[in-house]
Amino acid sequence: MRPFLIAANWKMHKSPRDTRDYFTTILPKFEACGVAKDPSFRKIIFFVPALDLQAAADSLKGTHIGWGAQNAHWETKGAFTGENSPAVLAELATPYVLVGHSERRALFGETDEQTGLKVKALHSVGITPLLCVGESLEEREAGRTNEVIVRQLNAGLSQRDATKRVIIAYEPVWAIGTGKVATPEQANDAHAVLRKALAAFGQAVADATPILYGGSVKPDNSAEIAKQPEIDGFLVGGASLETDSFLALCQTPKDRS
Ligand code: PGA
Repeated sequence: MRPFLIAANWKMHKSPRDTRDYFTTILPKFEACGVAKDPSFRKIIFFVPALDLQAAADSLKGTHIGWGAQNAHWETKGAFTGENSPAVLAELATPYVLVGHSERRALFGETDEQTGLKVKALHSVGITPLLCVGESLEEREAGRTNEVIVRQLNAGLSQRDATKRVIIAYEPVWAIGTGKVATPEQANDAHAVLRKALAAFGQAVADATPILYGGSVKPDNSAEIAKQPEIDGFLVGGASLETDSFLALCQTPKDRS
């Protein structure tokens, strides 16, 4: 059984002090409601700004909650001003890194080919990549959703280490930060397409790989989305920044029977 996975993407929000305060507030609440107790059943991960990684690691070590970076370069060192080395992230004991988030693709020119190189580099240092895929509004309206997300998936996984894990997030670009959420059916259909494409890498890969939905997930729409059978969790931006809304999202019911 795949765990239900709720991941926060803080984007470029919060300082190390904010990070420590956030965890000081939320950890006792997680403890009280028990949502973070059994990671084989329900897993929570925070993707924090690189400058907050140490604060997140200090706050979260000894818990079942994961943390990760939002980007890494595909080389371990070199003349790449401003980039994060996968080797250094590994030295900092970072368990997860986002790859190919739509903001990286659209604002920083990250290409399909680069996502493949990044997944390979992260696997080589023992970090689990969370690969994001998703179509623009224009692509959806042109009926190209499936073609685009399968292309992004295949490129991202093209150089992976087949013995290592990946996590996938389907995030329609038109739903990110817009308040426009995909309907549960639209999301489930896209997830089913991705699950089928994953089967080309082996049925075991398709069965074991969590596929998260991201794009304006909020406490008032999460339960409906989670009811869809192909949806294994969420990648949450805006609603992860406040402890109350994120705590509510982490408690979203998921029927695994
Ligand atoms: P949002 O962001 O929840 O604010 O739409 C999701 C994401 O970018 O991962």
